[in-house]
Amino acid sequence: MTDRFQFTLHATDGPARTGTIRTPRGEIRTPAFMPVGTAATVKAMMPESVRETGADILLGNTYHLMLRPGAERVARLGGLHKFMNWERPILTDSGGFQVMSLAGLRKLTEEGVTFASHIDGSKHVLTPERSMEIQRLLGSDIVMAFDECPALPATPEEVANSMRLSMRWAQRSRDAFGDRPGHALFGIMQGGVTRELREESAKALTGIGFDGYAIGGLAVGEGQEAMFGVLDYAPGFLPQDKPRYLMGVGKPDDIVGAVQRGVDMMDCVLPSRSGRTGQAWTRRGQVNIKNARHQDDPRPLDENCSCPACRNYSRAYLHHVFKSGEMISGMLLTWHNLQYYQDLMQGLRDAISSATLDDFVAGFHAARAQGDI
Ligand code: GUN
Ligand code: ZN
Repeated sequence: MTDRFQFTLHATDGPARTGTIRTPRGEIRTPAFMPVGTAATVKAMMPESVRETGADILLGNTYHLMLRPGAERVARLGGLHKFMNWERPILTDSGGFQVMSLAGLRKLTEEGVTFASHIDGSKHVLTPERSMEIQRLLGSDIVMAFDECPALPATPEEVANSMRLSMRWAQRSRDAFGDRPGHALFGIMQGGVTRELREESAKALTGIGFDGYAIGGLAVGEGQEAMFGVLDYAPGFLPQDKPRYLMGVGKPDDIVGAVQRGVDMMDCVLPSRSGRTGQAWTRRGQVNIKNARHQDDPRPLDENCSCPACRNYSRAYLHHVFKSGEMISGMLLTWHNLQYYQDLMQGLRDAISSATLDDFVAGFHAARAQGDI
């Protein structure tokens, strides 16, 4: 344990890196996948079960928690870690991105964003200063700068103006965050799919100086090829010695491609959300447990998986509980999906450590090409 926030690189394999982020609440092994706990819960999972899958850190959301139950209430109750019974590190997103995708009527100005709650229509304001305050009240270990991600389609001029606004907000976030030993503030790069704008954004952020750097504004509908195109150069604009976080990514093959290109951290609702809709992710690709082909199948989802869904239940059972609308369906498939994601991250970390990432990635794609058993 340490009272400081510290990132140590252990090994590299091409642009890919493996290391450890040390925080007072515990270590984060990178490349890391962060399960999403939007409303102070990873849906359908007990926190101790999330830990059992191998997660070192969760993601929480400023937007949802400020609306319900409220940041001041969480603070009075002892902070988000105690409130949700997760004592390890938590990263919180800063709210602007969720306002743009979830809130009702909204108004964007230089000062910040005014919006109507998606829950009850009530009016709220988020600014860089208020976002920093909310994330402090929650007790977040890794605080994200307040940014804006333009909705697609956007003209190059709109993307440039939005990025420059986010950079001014990044400076205000830095000023409002202040000096909080043991807590980290990450800046967020924007700039769409334009190399010059990504470089300008990276220069603005590194000029301000952050504990880590996120790559935002991707996985918003541009497609994997365009995203990988940006990831071929964007990590290179960022300091070697700080963590790089790709926000909101992704599918397993997105994660593998991002790690190959030098990303250290990721988050996505996909494994937990798709677990609740009957979609499983395995080494052989995606499995739809709703499909009638599973109804008489005594085999596990994946005989090589250590999760409770695979150890203790057949595909026939998983199919049955999904079709019957039983709660255990979402619980078992979410656990399996989070286990698959964490096992994938461990595989990537081990492969980078032993400089065998190319072989690992070839094996990853070969197993998926075979298809489900
Ligand atoms: N989540 C996914 N993409 C983004 C982004 O660009 N900014 C923020 N704040 N959160 C995100
Ligand atoms: Zn499993």
